[in-house]
Order: sequence, then C-alpha cells, then structure tokens
Amino acid sequence: MHTGYEAYDVVGIGFGPSNLSLAIALEEHWANASERPPKAVFFERQPSFGWHRNMLLPSTTMQVTFLKDLATFRNPMSRYSFVSFLHEAGRLARFANNQSFFPTRREFHQYLEWAASGFADRVSYGATVEEIRLPSDSGPEGIDHLRLHVRTASGTKVVGARNVAISTGLVPRMPAGVARDERVWHSSEFLERYGRTDPRELARVAVVGAGQSAAEITRFLHESLPHAQVTSVIPSYGYSIADDTPFANQVFDPGAVDEYYFGSERTREAFWRYHRNTNYSVVDSEVITDLYQRSYDEEVSGDKRLHFLNLTRVDEVKQAGERTCLSISSLLDGDSRELEVDAVVCATGYDSMEPAALLGDLDRYCLRDDAGRYQVRRDYRLVTAPGFNCGIYLQGGTEHSHGLTSSLLSNTAIRSGEIADSIVASIGDAGLAAAPADPVAGGTSVRTRNVVSER
Ligand code: FDA
Ligand code: NAP
Repeated sequence: MHTGYEAYDVVGIGFGPSNLSLAIALEEHWANASERPPKAVFFERQPSFGWHRNMLLPSTTMQVTFLKDLATFRNPMSRYSFVSFLHEAGRLARFANNQSFFPTRREFHQYLEWAASGFADRVSYGATVEEIRLPSDSGPEGIDHLRLHVRTASGTKVVGARNVAISTGLVPRMPAGVARDERVWHSSEFLERYGRTDPRELARVAVVGAGQSAAEITRFLHESLPHAQVTSVIPSYGYSIADDTPFANQVFDPGAVDEYYFGSERTREAFWRYHRNTNYSVVDSEVITDLYQRSYDEEVSGDKRLHFLNLTRVDEVKQAGERTCLSISSLLDGDSRELEVDAVVCATGYDSMEPAALLGDLDRYCLRDDAGRYQVRRDYRLVTAPGFNCGIYLQGGTEHSHGLTSSLLSNTAIRSGEIADSIVASIGDAGLAAAPADPVAGGTSVRTRNVVSER
C-alpha cells in the first residue's frame, strides 16, 4: 500500500454541525473502550468554525428545539449537549426562565463553537478538500483507501482515508441567469455584503423570495435602514406559515427516516406532497405577524416604505454602471416591468449538497438508480462497485433516499451516530485492537465488512 502521505481511518470533509456531531459520536463511542480510537481528521474551508454566519441576524431563533442538538437524541448523557453548554456558561437557570424550546441562532452558534472547540486537535481550518482520488497503486484485490487533495494557505497536501464523510452543506441558488455581484447578493452572503456597504447608499433595496431567509432579511432591512424603501418580491400571494405543529413535526422524528427509506415511491412522494411546507418556502408565524404589523402601521401613519409585490417573480437582473435593475413579472396581470434598486438580496434558497464534483473520477464507482440519483445505504454510505472497500458517507444530499431531515439539524445526532456505528463496524473491532498508530500508512490490513442495511 502507498505510504507517502498521512493516512486516517476517517476523514470528514466540512466541519459544520453534521460532521461536528460525527466527531462527537466517534469520540463517545471510544470513551469507554479499551481499543485504540480511529484516527480521524476533519477539513473545514472556513478559517474558523462558523454556522451560516451571514444569517446570524438579531433576534432570529432556531427552527428546532434545543433538544435536537449535536448529541442528545443519541446520547442524553453527552457532555456536548446544549444543556451542558448552558451549564458551563452559567446560564442554565436563566435560559429555563425563558420557557422556550427555541434559542436564538446567535446563542446556538455559541453552543456550536463551544462544542467545536473540543475538537481543535482534529480539525484543520482554512483547508479545502478539492478532490478525492483513487490511490495510484490500487491492486487487483480492490480499493481500500482513498487520496484526498487538500488545499491550505501553504499549498496542497494529500492525505489517505479508509472512510470519508462528506458534509459540505447546502449550495446557494440564484434565480436562473442571475449572477452575484457587488449589489446582487445571495442571502448566504448577506451580513458580510451588507457590512461592506455604506447604508447611505441603500435607499432602495429589494429582497427576492418568500422563505424564512427572505422574511428575516426583509425585517432586518426595514429595521436597519429607516430611510430606505424596502421591496419584497414574493412569488406566492402571501408568506406561508412553516408548519411546526406536533403531528406534522413527526416527519422529523428519527423513526420517519426508516419509514421514508423503506417505503415505496408512493410513500416517499406523500412525505413531500403533504409536508414540504414544514421547511421549504415557508416562514415562522412570528416573523409573518411582525412584517404584517409593520406594513399595517405604515398604512396607518401614511408613511409607506415597506412594499410587497406578490405573485411576482424575478426573471432577470441587469447591471448598468451603478444601476441595478430587476426584470419582474406578475402573475396578477401577466405584466413584466422593471424595478430599479441600489441592492437586491436573492433569498432564493439552496440546492442539495452535490458530491459529484468532489468525487471526480471516483464517481464511476458509485452506483446510481434509474433516475440518476446516488444509491445510498440506510447507514448513509454510498453503494459502490464490487472491490471498492472504502466507505463514502453522505451527510446531506440524501433527500431522495432518507427524506426531509437529510440537510437539517433535526436528526443530526442520530444520523451521525448511525454513521459512526457503520464506520466502527467496517473497521472491525479486532482490526482496531491490533492496529498500529497509523493503520493505512503502516500497511496493516484493517478488516472491512459490510453493514447489513440494504433496502
Ligand atoms: P453546513 O453547511 O452547516 O456545513 C458545511 C461545512 O462544510 C461548511 O462549514 C463549509 O464551509 C464546509 N465545506 C464545504 N465545502 C468544503 C470543502 N470542499 N472542503 C472543506 N470544507 C468544506 N436546519 C434546522 O434543522 N434548524 C434550523 O434552525 C436551521 N437554520 C438554518 C438557518 C439558515 C440561515 C440556513 C441557510 C439553514 C438552516 N438550517 C436549519 C439548515 C442547515 O442545513 C443546517 O442547519 C446545518 O447547517 C446542516 O449542517 P451541515 O454540517 O450538514 O452543513
Ligand atoms: P427557501 O425556503 O427554499 O425559499 C426560497 C424562496 O425563493 C421561495 O419562496 C422561492 O419560491 C423563492 N424564489 C426562488 N426563485 C425566485 C424568483 N426567481 N423570483 C421570486 N422568488 C423566487 O429558502 P430559505 O428561505 O433560504 O430557507 C432555506 C432553509 O434554511 C430552510 O430549511 C429554512 O428553514 C432555513 N432557514 C432557517 C432560518 C432560521 O433558523 N431562523 C433562517 C433562514 C433559513 P418558490 O417556492 O416558488 O420556488
């Protein structure tokens, strides 16, 4: 086996909540075991831990209960729970007095940073994984490790991995044909762009979309730019409420993953048809009520600067010097017209995580279904061609196989626990106990066995 580079049992690509939760699950698995823990490393392209930093708007709250933190659903005794964080921060009693299940996003970010700091020795920040490749010396007996090309400020290095957990997150989506620039922003870059712009230059701003991001940004701009005209371009008649009522919320329960995964096409279709409104193109009731009240107050005062263009979509954004011009079309009268603004925020959502670019040539070893989607085992491991003995696990990008929770926090603790179990099983207890400090580099044969989890 090739030994020219550092090698690991597990390499995590991306260190957001999903892989952070995996790091916790792996650590807790070995906390009481006598065997050597797997050698794991995580690469994160950001210079430090950050969770959707550009959307940490004041007063915004989490959309899941704090009990759906990085660990509690898998291990209620975990020292990485949100409650443990509050205890350490000396805020447990005060948090409880709030009588809310939903912390602010800023506080949850503090929690995630606190948890991430426990893994500083296993995370490389400012490190972008550019490609996963086959080792140059793959023998006829099969492929038992992979090479990852990692770019850092000091150059590109190569590391080896027996298992890879890809968790690179959602991909911002702009309206078709619209490119970002200094005054055309996606919501995922909002606070950074806003912070770099002189508010006096923002007399007319537009926000595109009718999801949670759009509603929160509209409220923020209305609040922060008291001199500005704020126009919200929304494709629906009005904002729709995010259904988080108890029965509907059960689609995010861990058990729903089995029902989705092992269900028929009709079962899966029903999940989306009836429950898409738990998450996509919907807004929390509190934000809807707030925006409506603002709009109504302006009507009463006669000083109107918050505008809603409903049943309207953005078709194009044109730049002419300093001018930013939106081409919008209305379903109300079928008319198209132009709207000139100083900046536009496209809160137009995200595409699922797509690992194909990272997989490069390896992609041909990953099996796909008739619709061209990756085949994914119940343990989130890609189904690969015979002889491919490495594990490639997906945290995200599995909506087609595992359902609505695939990109969300709701099931993170359980999902990463299942992945950790699968990795542990594939390494094999006996292999670990006998392995030297660096099993791949040392050329030791670490047993692999498949986990029973096919559909
Ligand atoms: P996440 O996107 O958080 O992390 C991926 C990481 O990978 C990033 O840090 C990125 O820098 C890194 N990365 C990407 N490519 C890389 C590469 N090639 N090499 C190295 N690193 C790379 N869900 C929910 O259940 N409740 C909620 O309240 C919210 N709130 C929320 C707010 C906002 C504004 C958004 C946009 C989304 C949410 N979500 C959510 C959904 C969201 O997907 C979820 O909160 C987590 O971010 C998912 O965590 P991940 O670690 O999977 O992705
Ligand atoms: P989203 O829910 O996918 O909403 C995107 C919106 O943009 C939709 O209303 C969509 O309309 C609209 N849109 C797309 N193209 C358009 C066009 N050309 N013209 C007009 N409108 C257009 O995206 P999101 O709001 O960013 O939410 C993404 C995820 O992040 C969700 O899980 C959400 O819950 C989460 N989030 C959470 C918080 C929080 O925790 N506080 C904050 C923000 C986001 P169509 O429906 O017609 O496509």
